Amino acid sequence: MHFGVDYYPEHWPRERWATDASLMREAGIEVVRMAEFAWAKMEPAPGRYDFDWLDEAIEVLSKEGIKTVLGTPTATPPAWMIERHPEILPVRQDGVRVGFGGRHHDCQSSETYRGYIRRFVPIMAQHFRDNGGVVGWQVDNELGNSHQQLCYCDSCHRAFHSWLEKRYGSIDALNEAWGTVFWSQSYDSFEQIPTPSPTPNSHNPSLLLDWRRFTSDLIVDFLRFQVEILRNECPKHFVTHNFMGFYDKTDYYDLARDLDFISVSYYPRIFIEGERLAPSMTDLAATLDLMRGTKQRSFWIMEQQAGPTGWETLGSTPRPGQLRLWTCQSVAHGADTIVYFRWRTCLFGTEQYWHGILPHSGEPGRRYDEIRTTIRELTPHMPKWEGALPGSEVAILYSYDQRWALQIQPHHPDLGYARQIRVYYGAFCRANVPVDFVSDDADLSCYKLVIAPLLFLTTPELSDRLKDYVSQGGSLVLTMRTAVKDWNNRVVPRTLPGDLSELLGLTITDYDCLRDGDQKIRWDANQAPTGAYQAPKGASSVPTDDSFKALKWCDIITLDGAESLATYASEYYEGSPAITRNTFGKGTAYYIATEPDTPLTERTVQYLLEQTGIVPILETPVDVEVVRRRAKKSEYLFILNHSAVSAEISVPSQWKHLLGEKLKDGRLALEPFGVAVLEAQL
Ligand code: GAL
Ligand code: ZN
Repeated sequence: MHFGVDYYPEHWPRERWATDASLMREAGIEVVRMAEFAWAKMEPAPGRYDFDWLDEAIEVLSKEGIKTVLGTPTATPPAWMIERHPEILPVRQDGVRVGFGGRHHDCQSSETYRGYIRRFVPIMAQHFRDNGGVVGWQVDNELGNSHQQLCYCDSCHRAFHSWLEKRYGSIDALNEAWGTVFWSQSYDSFEQIPTPSPTPNSHNPSLLLDWRRFTSDLIVDFLRFQVEILRNECPKHFVTHNFMGFYDKTDYYDLARDLDFISVSYYPRIFIEGERLAPSMTDLAATLDLMRGTKQRSFWIMEQQAGPTGWETLGSTPRPGQLRLWTCQSVAHGADTIVYFRWRTCLFGTEQYWHGILPHSGEPGRRYDEIRTTIRELTPHMPKWEGALPGSEVAILYSYDQRWALQIQPHHPDLGYARQIRVYYGAFCRANVPVDFVSDDADLSCYKLVIAPLLFLTTPELSDRLKDYVSQGGSLVLTMRTAVKDWNNRVVPRTLPGDLSELLGLTITDYDCLRDGDQKIRWDANQAPTGAYQAPKGASSVPTDDSFKALKWCDIITLDGAESLATYASEYYEGSPAITRNTFGKGTAYYIATEPDTPLTERTVQYLLEQTGIVPILETPVDVEVVRRRAKKSEYLFILNHSAVSAEISVPSQWKHLLGEKLKDGRLALEPFGVAVLEAQL
């Protein structure tokens, strides 16, 4: 099964199902996901079950050789349930209980709600367990989505107390860990601890961070609760869940643990309300790589964009070639199966303008043709790279705890953890160097170069692992605001960067939050990168040496063994080091004392690649992405032209054409949004 669609038979007359199934088969569709919002159809009244319609749909599809993934419908508790138990509805931070009428109107700690799930999900699972058309399960749908500020109800409040009690053991330990002596906040019992609902001022940062962890754990627990039911009832079926890229409500490393593989909702031209621009090429790539990183294995796309998106307002229509391009991009970054959202555009409900492959009319058109051609082109090749990963030599450490802690205290109002991560990622991506995202407990030994931006919270164990990694020969980049706090979000009383000073060969004696604008940075002439500096692709002019910028924050460094690679070129700390390098054991540790602007990030990354001997896969024009999947005997390069103009690149001779645009005399000419896949023997 390599291609599929999200199908809602309950939205269409039964007489249409056979036509849909045959059009699907004709397009090369082999799997559908169904029923993830259909609780009210499957249990129309308490204890009255109706699976006939779904049995019939599965059968109609099976006749065309199409398999089914079923969703547990727990994102949509029916009206009868809410009428009986309004306490299932979540409570917002301001204390208002939200009403019925959208979806995800469920509190995940509610025992009442879990009771309904404990009854319904086994019945559903037992019903479909022996149906040969069913192959697997998706738990719920995009957990955390539409939960906005999560739930502040009494049940969640009590669950927070138990979570804290488990974590700290005693209230004295919590008081100490949080520093509740501040503003007379010390607690006598866990019951006194508030949820972070409105107060006259800000809450304690330690409370806020634990609240984020608690709510993440609650979502993980809610998923696990259902996974256990499904594994029990249907041991042969796989279980997955659709993740949402850089979404921040749940620690996806944790959520991934209980699943056979993760799935992704991938809308490259999603226009979030209020945002004018769709994500950039490198941000899209980062999203897919982050998703692969949650398990370090290949995944499914459970919702791949199939047309213009939007609820009340619309995004632009995918141009001819873009649906093919994005499909290939998903495959390139590690997707083994692509399921398009959705089969046909709905005639009613909130998502009338979230377009499917078929338009409202149901008549196959341009999008159907493009997807059919793409599926036919890719299907014979998909098994070749199934499970294959990029073979990255570079890792970027991405941590939910760091992200949450910096959301709570961003220092500079514009500082964003995920954004800074994507800036570093973008420089590698534009250089066509594959990157893995890893968690803070990952084994780093297989990487030549690790970037760990904004490592704000540390533990002695984490510091030790980083030191070990470098002393064994690794290259590590740490940046501003490293090792400021402990894992409880308390400042550690020491000179920064604390127990990483020796590793970095420096101390930080002062710092400056840049509220009056950027600072200048200059590469030290005698420390220029070896080899010619490459201007960032697409840059209009090469920056002169002191026109690089430090953004948002400057750490002021005293060297203690490290050498300076770049220095500040303005303010009272003009001439002091901004980027440093230190030899430690067999390896090297770098420190970037600020948020570098994009040209400086590009230059630094160029330098790091040269120092570590990591070679970009290919040279390409800006907007042409190159992604690798390395299988056992062969490796595959996906060359993706994200721009509306044609592009040309030269390709070394070991690469042979596999699909897409043809190679001619080592030159590859790509159409607008064109794609080629090349193969080389290993
Ligand atoms: C996804 C969601 C789908 C559908 C789609 C379009 O986030 O999983 O159920 O809502 O967006 O809005
Ligand atoms: Zn709740």
